[in-house]
Amino acid sequence: MSKKAESTKAHLFYNCQIVRPDFKGHDSNMAFLVCDGIIHWIGKKNKVPKDYKITKEFNLDKKLVFPSFIECHTHTVFAGDRSDEFELRNTGVSYLEIAKRGGGILSTVQKTRKISKPNLKKISQTRVDEFLRQGVSTLEIKSGYGLDLKTEIKMLEVAKSMQGPEIITTFLGAHALPKEFDSYAAYLNYISDTVLPILKKKKLTNRVDIFIEKNFFESADAKIFLQKAKDLNFDLTIHANQLSESGGAELAIELEAKSADHVIHLNRQTLQKFSKSKTVAVLLPTADLYMKCAYPQARKLIDAGATVALASDFNPGSCPSQDLMLVGLLARLEMKMTLPEIFLAYTKNAAIALGIENQQGDFSVGKYANFICTNANMTDFFYSAGKVPDHQLFIRGSAVKV
Ligand code: NIG
Ligand code: FE
Repeated sequence: MSKKAESTKAHLFYNCQIVRPDFKGHDSNMAFLVCDGIIHWIGKKNKVPKDYKITKEFNLDKKLVFPSFIECHTHTVFAGDRSDEFELRNTGVSYLEIAKRGGGILSTVQKTRKISKPNLKKISQTRVDEFLRQGVSTLEIKSGYGLDLKTEIKMLEVAKSMQGPEIITTFLGAHALPKEFDSYAAYLNYISDTVLPILKKKKLTNRVDIFIEKNFFESADAKIFLQKAKDLNFDLTIHANQLSESGGAELAIELEAKSADHVIHLNRQTLQKFSKSKTVAVLLPTADLYMKCAYPQARKLIDAGATVALASDFNPGSCPSQDLMLVGLLARLEMKMTLPEIFLAYTKNAAIALGIENQQGDFSVGKYANFICTNANMTDFFYSAGKVPDHQLFIRGSAVKV
């Protein structure tokens, strides 16, 4: 298959094995052409079309090629850490109890409001580099540790300035109730009526998230807020059914959100609703490990026909881990997901969750040339926690130095 050539300049990659779209096996003796960072042709090495002007050639030495990882749920931009709270949790104080005492999300908010933008940028870039090192070409980053206009803008601007991967930003102003407000509904009104139009104008994001949970935002208030965000053309995503049956997952499906994330507490009816909906269930098992929660019902979701993605949920509270291999490993060990399902969850399905599936998430003609090239086998991935097999990441056809 080939895109129209128009004697375009192209880079030729050859002598590789391309992993099939379902991640079940690969094709050998393959080659592909990349023009301006886009895949233009994929085929057998001896069938390279003549009508391209090849300006560079890369012999890939029979290595495997597959689409690079898409991390579709992170809170990478924040100041400080919460190791003290982690110790408290381990001595029996719950996440919700810590939040009630003014800790949790609100303690990171204090630190993130205080830190200078250059310092926030510096510490965030180190974390982004760590994702890049693991083969992440595309990284979602949420705001939500400002909860005031100035700091939310600071977080989104820092996120957008990160070097390396493709960045997708999400506004999570509805993460917790800031101390300046005493009513959830009033705060949601403020962010929908005042903050969202400003973010839109500044082009800082086109996605809106909310944490629907007991002691956080209620689904009835959230519905009004999300409907307003939708009317302003924002894509929706929801932190849903993480600690209880909060109604978030049902709302995500009803409002055709791009994704419902966490979704641990799902009853049978909601589980079935996922199968008929386009809303992706984004599962975050490392957060469940840290929170000592049950793991989500990945097997039931997949068997019912739902689209399932995986992500790290990296944040200073419920998941201070950036380890992609651990995410997949937990999915294999605790959630009965197969290896091909895990690769799909971390590539194509993550792209669908972010609404970027027309450009990214699989290795096909017309898509960004974002891929991993490795001497390792597929079974070497999601095998050893903390250890990504040696590989080279390419973003828009260029080798990434990490
Ligand atoms: O995805 N659940 C809400 N938000 C984050 C936790 C954020 C935090 O604890 O700082 C999550 O788990
Ligand atoms: Fe999260």
